[in-house]
Amino acid sequence: MSSTASVRHETIKRGSVWVNGPLIVGAGPSGLAVAACLKTQNVPFIILERAHCIASLWQNRTYDRLRLHLPKQFCHLPNLPFPGHFPQYPTRTQFVSYLESYAKRFGIKPRFGEAAIAGRYDGTCGMWRVSTGAGAEYICQWLVVATGENGERVVPEIEGLPEFGGEVVHASEYKSGAGYKGKKVLVVGCGNSGMEICLDLCQHNALPSMVVRDSVHVLPREVFGKSTFEMAVAMMNWLPLWLVDRILLILARLALGNTEKYGLKRPATGPFQLKKTKGKTPVLDIGTVEKIKSGKIKVVSGVNKFFHGEAELVDRRRLDVDAVILATGYRSNVHSWLQESEFFSKDGQTKTPFPDGWKGENGLYSVGFTRRGLSGVFSDAVRAAEDIGRIWKEERSQAKKFLAYRRRCNSQL
Ligand SMILES: Cc1cc2nc3c(=O)[nH]c(=O)nc-3n(C[C@H](O)[C@H](O)[C@H](O)COP(=O)(O)OP(=O)(O)OC[C@H]3O[C@@H](n4cnc5c(N)ncnc54)[C@H](O)[C@@H]3O)c2cc1C
Ligand SMILES: NC(=O)c1ccc[n+]([C@@H]2O[C@H](COP(=O)([O-])OP(=O)(O)OC[C@H]3O[C@@H](n4cnc5c(N)ncnc54)[C@H](OP(=O)(O)O)[C@@H]3O)[C@@H](O)[C@H]2O)c1
Repeated sequence: MSSTASVRHETIKRGSVWVNGPLIVGAGPSGLAVAACLKTQNVPFIILERAHCIASLWQNRTYDRLRLHLPKQFCHLPNLPFPGHFPQYPTRTQFVSYLESYAKRFGIKPRFGEAAIAGRYDGTCGMWRVSTGAGAEYICQWLVVATGENGERVVPEIEGLPEFGGEVVHASEYKSGAGYKGKKVLVVGCGNSGMEICLDLCQHNALPSMVVRDSVHVLPREVFGKSTFEMAVAMMNWLPLWLVDRILLILARLALGNTEKYGLKRPATGPFQLKKTKGKTPVLDIGTVEKIKSGKIKVVSGVNKFFHGEAELVDRRRLDVDAVILATGYRSNVHSWLQESEFFSKDGQTKTPFPDGWKGENGLYSVGFTRRGLSGVFSDAVRAAEDIGRIWKEERSQAKKFLAYRRRCNSQL
């Protein structure tokens, strides 16, 4: 069924669906947020989701111990805060249950199992045409891209990996360290995923080594019991970014010590400046640094090559390895299905930086490409839905006036 009972579909040709309102692609937090904001304005829409559930990243591609790293007030979606009993950092399960009740509350019913595989603007009719793997073509005036910055996993090609012989999984397939007891596990990547997976492995008595091929900013999740992120956001209202970064690095030094001593070299650019310019998220530490200091997690240089049961590092050292976890990140998939190059760049991110990257030309919108996680999702969704709602209402009132005029003319004949 369609996303709302009020959606009217006119079949144009077999397999084509005329969308009365916007088409939203993706039913993660971004798609749900924009859908809810449209619902509150009574604007009909259709929402497509390639998986068979909402928020498939959170339900299917995250590990068991995951919690939101940012305090809950920065992570809820528009029009519905988290329940009062949720902790400061909700668990993955709590977040998923919140999203499920969010979808229910706003009557959002995605069309599951429909992956957008091609999309383009048809200038002749002034409409977007989106084809799905299920064989349908959706024709719409407004297209909202909500497929996420983390749509696809990044799997690097490392020489010898096919011959390695042991278990190799991406972080998106990792659930818990339970099956790794006593195993030597090489975790490739030191973003939030790599760091937390190492901690989890450690807590399950595995022997993790973490590959840090370059540099990384690690900040404590909290300083003096206060969220580091919350402090940074507050400081950004008053201070320039470079100064906020300086203060954060001093606080990080006080809380974590000199992490460079343990192989975690810091980038030359400050953490939030780097996030802004390169989209690289700083790691919020929840205990991994302590395990690195105690030697329970080894930090190693980049991997040159794999052999059967072994990894050769850039510094030529050889490690015995039982299993490899590729915590090598994710990328957007927009460029793989949407033929558009003005608004989205080649890497599938929007070209205009936050807070203005939510609207393109000809009725194209994006939600969730701000590099600001869930707080960016909130802001994009509200803006996009308000804009579409305004145009929708204007067009409807014009159409109503036209119909009334026609009725008057007919009655005078
Ligand atoms: C392990 C992990 C932990 C994270 N933790 C946090 C956190 O604590 N706080 C935070 O702010 N951010 C966090 N993030 C970032 C997180 O991705 C976003 O905050 C949030 O999930 C963004 O929502 P989204 O809807 O934009 O994207 P997603 O959650 O990725 O949802 C996109 C949806 O679109 C669907 N889709 C993709 N392509 C297509 C297609 N072609 N056709 C149809 N459907 C499609 C997907 O199946 C998915 O359901 C985390 C990311 C990861 C990987
Ligand atoms: N609880 C949470 O809130 C939580 C938990 C996990 C993830 N997340 C979020 O999810 C998003 C993705 O995080 P992520 O950690 O999965 O990905 P990420 O931040 O993109 O980190 C990927 C890591 O893999 C490394 N890497 C990539 N290719 C490599 C290769 N060939 N050899 C060695 N190293 C390689 C990168 O190194 P370089 O830096 O050198 O490229 C980087 O350290 C982020 O926004 C993150 O904040 C949040």
